[in-house]
Amino acid sequence: MDAISVIRTKRDRGELTDRQIDWVVDAYTRGEVADEQMSALAMAILLNGMTAAEINRWTDAMIASGERMDFSGLSRPTADKHSTGGVGDKITLPLAPLVAACGVAVPQLSGRGLGHTGGTLDKLEAIPGWRALLSNDEMLAVLEDVGAVICAAGDGLAPADKKLYALRDVTGTVEAIPLIASSIMSKKIAEGTGALVLDVKVGTGAFMKDLADARELARTMVRLGVDHGVRTVALLTDMSTPLGLTAGNALEVRESVEVLAGGGPADVVELTLALAREMLAAAGVTDKDPADALKNGAAMDAWRRMIAAQGGDPDAPLPTARETHVVTAAESGVLTRLDAYGVGVAAWRLGAGRARKEEAVQAGAGVEIHAKPGDRVTAGQPLLTLHTDTPERFDYALEALAGSHDIAAAGTAFAPTPIVID
Ligand code: URA
Repeated sequence: MDAISVIRTKRDRGELTDRQIDWVVDAYTRGEVADEQMSALAMAILLNGMTAAEINRWTDAMIASGERMDFSGLSRPTADKHSTGGVGDKITLPLAPLVAACGVAVPQLSGRGLGHTGGTLDKLEAIPGWRALLSNDEMLAVLEDVGAVICAAGDGLAPADKKLYALRDVTGTVEAIPLIASSIMSKKIAEGTGALVLDVKVGTGAFMKDLADARELARTMVRLGVDHGVRTVALLTDMSTPLGLTAGNALEVRESVEVLAGGGPADVVELTLALAREMLAAAGVTDKDPADALKNGAAMDAWRRMIAAQGGDPDAPLPTARETHVVTAAESGVLTRLDAYGVGVAAWRLGAGRARKEEAVQAGAGVEIHAKPGDRVTAGQPLLTLHTDTPERFDYALEALAGSHDIAAAGTAFAPTPIVID
């Protein structure tokens, strides 16, 4: 087998054989296929697509490149959630302990933010003492004891994906649905969850700007999950406006704790409950209403135990940024648009995210939102508060926010986009 014949097959719109796929994924992971060869193949896949059978085999080959975790010895069923990423998407934080409080174990392997979307691990690291890196044994112990664990994926899980994703990132080949679906699902299947709920985001702040593409990605991932014995469902959810009233690490932890305390912004609560219901149903638990666990304190109790089990102090004050800058409404009327992408880039530039993998994030940096689309606003009232430790970043963040909101005359009809689109 050689890389050139595999590249030519896909370049000429052919279907790769199982042997070709197994060989090229394995040889690339071992360093026998060069980066330039794999990037040519990734581009051919982006341009010419893959059949369902090819995507399935590609996913199998990525899973086979590393270890598989096994939660079958746990005393309760497992369910996980994956979001394709958005702005202010802190849902994993309240969701994992909420689902655990309803009797389903949540092994949530999460990532860090890159670009304008935040990362769950960066958010939780704002909590003094909290550790993202756990051994497999520690992870299992927290899962058995608390019912939920949120931690970094170990290096052993789908190493082929780690290498290929880094290559796609620098070769303009991220946006290929077969490659995105196999990348996400190989990690989730290798992780060993029994059920999986996918939150596929659509809108300016999401990876998928277009509903038809998001639907195709969702269907491809659901099919992969089901074919690999994981009960998988997907929701298409809106990411044209930031979720909730915060984007930034400590700011989002604070908002998540408000949700766990029975309050918090309506959109965050709605999406948390919708995903929790899907996770419980996929795990076969039909007699629990997650809204009760938010009201009666059971979810908050699971959160506190989960944070403490990973070295965090759930009572410690959260870090705050040293400097703030307020953006006010230029006129009175109805806020009709607040662009998720603009707010995400601003939070990133203020220091909540990183431009390169090795950069540190600022725990207190980000954007606080004082009005959401549909709200009436008065000229001069605060719309956003920007937070950072490095005030020289304010101008750079304000540039990202230019043109990111619209205010229409009072009385203008406004039709809100539903959070759960499908
Ligand atoms: N997230 C992943 O894990 N993989 C992709 O290809 C895209 C997003």
